[in-house]
Amino acid sequence: MSDTLFVTGASGQLGRAVISHLLAEEGVAPGRIIAGTREPAKLADLAARGVRVVALDFEQTESLAQAFAGVDRLLLISTDALDRPGRRLAQHLAAVEAARAAGVGHVLYTSMPNPADSLVPFAPDHLGTETALQASGLRWSILRNAWYQENLLMELGPALEHGQWTTAAGEGRYAPVSRADCARAAAAALTGKAVPGRIYDITGPELLGMDEIAALAGEAFGRPVVAVKLDEATRTGILLQAGLPPFIAPVLVASELNIRAGKFALRSADVAELTGREPVALGATFAALRAAGQAAA
Ligand SMILES: NC(=O)c1ccc[n+]([C@@H]2O[C@H](COP(=O)([O-])OP(=O)(O)OC[C@H]3O[C@@H](n4cnc5c(N)ncnc54)[C@H](OP(=O)(O)O)[C@@H]3O)[C@@H](O)[C@H]2O)c1
Repeated sequence: MSDTLFVTGASGQLGRAVISHLLAEEGVAPGRIIAGTREPAKLADLAARGVRVVALDFEQTESLAQAFAGVDRLLLISTDALDRPGRRLAQHLAAVEAARAAGVGHVLYTSMPNPADSLVPFAPDHLGTETALQASGLRWSILRNAWYQENLLMELGPALEHGQWTTAAGEGRYAPVSRADCARAAAAALTGKAVPGRIYDITGPELLGMDEIAALAGEAFGRPVVAVKLDEATRTGILLQAGLPPFIAPVLVASELNIRAGKFALRSADVAELTGREPVALGATFAALRAAGQAAA
């Protein structure tokens, strides 16, 4: 393959993992990959392997089109700029416009499940980016990443300690996916396996409710854990008490309410279709953590 592949947000956890899968699993030559990041120094190891590492910040709008010149496929990784309303969408729109101006061959965007019908406060960022991409005249594909399994791991320790996993998700179910599977799917898509004009639901292999998630954790770590279903205010209070920043706690709770409302209840075969292998199940992720001696066995 002689295409030039650009990954934005390349020093983030997903971006780095995408590049490692491009190199290791997709067999892309390092010189075909451009890694764009706000902090190129963080990717000195990739530069040493021959990946082209360039400075890229969606807020430096005047430099974006030049950075994307000559790129065949571009993976636009959504940013984490949630501190100010509208900031993230403006960043993404600038990136889409620059890709259009540069004549990028195919743009892939990491979105979220079901952004048009969501209780998640930042869903409009994803919907707005999807809409702009679809209207841009560019060839596009959208990778709607389900909620990461890793989000659950942040609460695994306390859940194991207390035997209780508190949640506002009620009886709702969703299909948590590992970040590694999102990265694998994005790498496959970036090498040309994604159909232009298609939206992919990048999900884990099974729909799970919090009772099942708590039971899986208990099984993997050999101790009882039960889900405790709370109302919105009580759950928010617990997260604030645990030290979560006041602008993050309501976002997490809104995600759980979105699960409760059934708006994240999506499971697809798209990871296997793109990558040729089944995504990892949450129980296997817990078991691997246990085997690695993490999360207080
Ligand atoms: N599905 C889920 O459960 C879930 C969970 C968390 C986040 N996400 C979303 O998925 C994205 C990737 O996840 P992650 O786990 O890799 O998160 P992460 O490690 O927190 O990475 C944040 C990303 O945002 C990029 N970024 C921030 N400001 C930017 C700017 N001004 N211009 C260009 N890029 C900018 C960073 O790139 P550089 O630092 O390299 O510039 C980095 O790739 C997140 O940014 C977020 O939108 C999804």
